[in-house]
Amino acid sequence: MGTPAKEGKPVSLTIDGFEVTVPEGTSVMRAAAEAGLDIPKLCASDNLEAWGSCRLCVVEIEGRRGTPASCTTPVHPGMVVHTQSQKVKKIRRGVMELYISDHPLDCLTCAANGDCELQDQAGAVGLRDVRYTPGRNHYDRSGAGTLAQGDARARAPQMDLGNPDYIPADDSNPYFTYDPSKCILCNRCVRACDEVQGTFALTIEGRGFDARVSAGMSTDDFLSSDCVSCGACVQACPTATLQEKSVIEMGTPERSVVTTCAYCGVGCSFKAE
Ligand code: FES
Repeated sequence: MGTPAKEGKPVSLTIDGFEVTVPEGTSVMRAAAEAGLDIPKLCASDNLEAWGSCRLCVVEIEGRRGTPASCTTPVHPGMVVHTQSQKVKKIRRGVMELYISDHPLDCLTCAANGDCELQDQAGAVGLRDVRYTPGRNHYDRSGAGTLAQGDARARAPQMDLGNPDYIPADDSNPYFTYDPSKCILCNRCVRACDEVQGTFALTIEGRGFDARVSAGMSTDDFLSSDCVSCGACVQACPTATLQEKSVIEMGTPERSVVTTCAYCGVGCSFKAE
C-alpha cells in the first residue's frame, strides 16, 4: 500500500463506482482502502514503502493499457479504476496459483495457520485448484524437516536427503526461525530491516527458484550476521517463514507489546505509521 502521502493537493477519482478524494501522491490501493475497498495484496503493508513485486493488487484503469499494480500507481484527477473486473480477478488467481504451487501444503500443522496472509489472500482471490506440480525449489519438502508444532528442534541440517542444493531452516537465532520453504520473496522482511529498523542486515540472494532471504552474503546464519534480533522482520513476514519460536513451541507470542522492536523488554507502545 505504501506509506501515506503527505498532505497534498486533493485529487478526486472513481474506484468501483465510488468517488474518492485523497491527497496527491496517494497510491490507488490506499485510495481504495480509504473508500473501504480491499484490494488483495502480499508485498504491500501499511508501514513500508510500496514495492510492487507480488502483482496480486493489479487493477484496470480506464484509458490505460495493461493492469498496473495499485500499490505503486499514484492517483490522478478523474481516474476511473476497476478493482474487481473479471480480467483482474483471473490474473490474481493465476498469480496466487503460482505462489501456492511453490509453497508447502502443511497449513494444518503450520504455526501460522489462521494467521497467514498467504492463506487469507488465497481465499480472497478464490483460488480452488493448483494445476502446477509443487516443490520446484531446493528447500526441504520431505516433511522430515518441517517445523513441527511443539518442537522447534524438529528441523536440522542432517535432513539433507542427498540433495546437494538442499537448504535447511535457520534456527540459529534464539528468538525466531527462518524457513526458506515458506518464503514468498515479498521482500517485506528486508524492507522492514532497512526502513523500520535501519539495520540493513537482510538481502535477497539468488534468482528464480534459488532466490532466498539471506542475512548477509558473507554469513551462514542469522546469529552470525548483523541482525540485532529486533523482530521487525518477523512482524513484517506474511507467512511462517520468519516465525517466533514461542509461537511455534507454545502457540502464542512471548510478548505482545506494540513496538517496532518485538523483543524489546520495555514495550514503549510506539507504533510505526
Ligand atoms: Fe501491489 Fe504486491 S501488493 S504488487
